[in-house]
Amino acid sequence: MKVTVVGAGAVGASCAEYIAIKDFASEVVLLDIKEGYAEGKAMDLMQTASLNAFDTKITGTTGDYSKTAGSDIAVITSGIPRKPGMTREELIGINAGIVKDVSSNLIKHSPDVIIIVVSNPMDTMTYLVHKTTGLPKNRIIGMGGALDSARFKYRLAEALECPISDVDGMVIGGHSDTGMIPLTSLATRNSVPVSRFIAEERLDQVMEDTKVGGATLTKLLGTSAWYAPGAAVSGLVQAIACDQKKMFPCSALLEGEYGLDDISIGVPVILGRDGIEKIVEIDLSDAEKSKLEESAAAVKKTNGLLEL
Ligand code: LAC
Repeated sequence: MKVTVVGAGAVGASCAEYIAIKDFASEVVLLDIKEGYAEGKAMDLMQTASLNAFDTKITGTTGDYSKTAGSDIAVITSGIPRKPGMTREELIGINAGIVKDVSSNLIKHSPDVIIIVVSNPMDTMTYLVHKTTGLPKNRIIGMGGALDSARFKYRLAEALECPISDVDGMVIGGHSDTGMIPLTSLATRNSVPVSRFIAEERLDQVMEDTKVGGATLTKLLGTSAWYAPGAAVSGLVQAIACDQKKMFPCSALLEGEYGLDDISIGVPVILGRDGIEKIVEIDLSDAEKSKLEESAAAVKKTNGLLEL
């Protein structure tokens, strides 16, 4: 199993690290345009192999896509991250050109690759990869919902004053400060609805804190987060590589599901060796349905800025 990670910045390197530590891939290629950067990160990570007990071989390259040839899975993290006060949507001008270029180069050398898009604005970049590559829709996956759901669980556990492993919950919709929809009605603590433990106002606070999860970290760090994004990507890569048939909310191209069409947005999917093997349609309340429509309208507005 060969995995390419394009972009050796904080998210790309964390992603490569988590993939290696989980030790399911034979090879990870890190690619960056900054001279020597990916090679350096790869070497540093390889020097953790004996300490962290993994056999995954990590190599780096400065822009040589021939080194990525035959990749089963490729992760696109390249582009600029947001700075404090910026929205993910403001990154479109620079990142669209980069993502277009990267995805074309990837499929030239790995025609059977499954692509995971992390670059922001993520739902629009995922849609752009569909338009640019024409790959079947099961092979293009946007990473957002897995991260947002992890942040939701963190906030739920904080509010319930319980271990994170006690709670379960999912975030669907666009990966943006206003577009995320934490499904509070379905969130549970050991199968018991979380509304049995905390008041509605506290749950509303959990929802708001989840939606600005990325923005909160950007303000604290001065740039966008990397540990949880890297871990979330590694979970998706593992589900595909190990054919786990695991369910994650991911940005998937919809053709009628949830009443939406010609858009990539976060919905629950089953991930296995073929990438998105199924889009799971769950029953949403009327309020959640209208939030999803609003979120989709905002993503479509951003998609409208693309030069396709
Ligand atoms: C975040 C970026 C990866 O939410 O979008 O941290």
